[in-house]
Amino acid sequence: MKKIAVVGSLNIDYFVETDIFPSTGETIMGKGFFMSVGGKGANQAVAAARLGGKVSMFGSVGNDDNGKLLIGKMEKEGVNVSHLNKVEGSNTGVAFIEICNSENRILVISGANQHTNIQYINRIQDRLLEHDIILFQLETPLSMIEYIIPILAKEGKTIILNPAPACQLSSELIANVTFLTPNEHEYPLVLNEKGELKETLEKHPNKVIVTCGSRGVYFHEGKGLIKVPAIQVEAVDTTGAGDTFSGAFTLALSEGRTIEESIRFGTIAAGLSVRKKGAQTGMPTRKEMEHFIKEELV
Ligand code: RIB
Ligand code: NA
Repeated sequence: MKKIAVVGSLNIDYFVETDIFPSTGETIMGKGFFMSVGGKGANQAVAAARLGGKVSMFGSVGNDDNGKLLIGKMEKEGVNVSHLNKVEGSNTGVAFIEICNSENRILVISGANQHTNIQYINRIQDRLLEHDIILFQLETPLSMIEYIIPILAKEGKTIILNPAPACQLSSELIANVTFLTPNEHEYPLVLNEKGELKETLEKHPNKVIVTCGSRGVYFHEGKGLIKVPAIQVEAVDTTGAGDTFSGAFTLALSEGRTIEESIRFGTIAAGLSVRKKGAQTGMPTRKEMEHFIKEELV
């Protein structure tokens, strides 16, 4: 099994549940509150580890209680956290998440995640190179990502970039990435594309994988467009579904599965994850995945 490194964010998520989203200037009464561990990087690392992957997390937390909580939780999930950057005088990242009828709105304050920068990457570069597959998101500085990805590409690493939160990426960066996993809302900005999804995918065969929530996942394998359907589930909270997809897709690749098989694995894991509140709570274990595939998948 190949070794996975996730280079990304770690946040503590503060969730508020509501029946309607407040509009500007409006005060409404919410329904509930809970805290949970999150951050797109940490979520993707946990998704892969829970399914049996060999995963190391690279990123930054503050020297505070939230940072300790995140490290403790990641350790329990079997993620190697020994290369994490503990930043003095900086708060661990936080996310404020409103959930309403399984939909969400997320506001992230980076804090220590800003320190997952070029200096940090230079310090841990040798450790990073011990891994075969490297997974990134965009909650850490883009300058760091643009710096390290060409180096990893030259070393022949498999590089996966989940471009969330979305921003436009340079064609050099896109060329150096093995797989890009935007969702349907992100891909037009990320790839600077105004055309149909089908045309966009045709231009990036076997590279761009677009997740469309309950409508499934699309990619182009060179000869034609492939749609991998989503599983039908009762959605409670879709926070972290995209992270579960990217983490589970990466894990399946690390086991030597094909792109299509890995996408299938990712869509099932993501589907299962939305049945519970919080980003990581619903992410399936390997046993739960196998049980579902054997007993419930139609
Ligand atoms: O993708 C979901 C994640 O986005 C949350 O866990 C939150 O921390 C933000 O990073
Ligand atoms: Na969830």
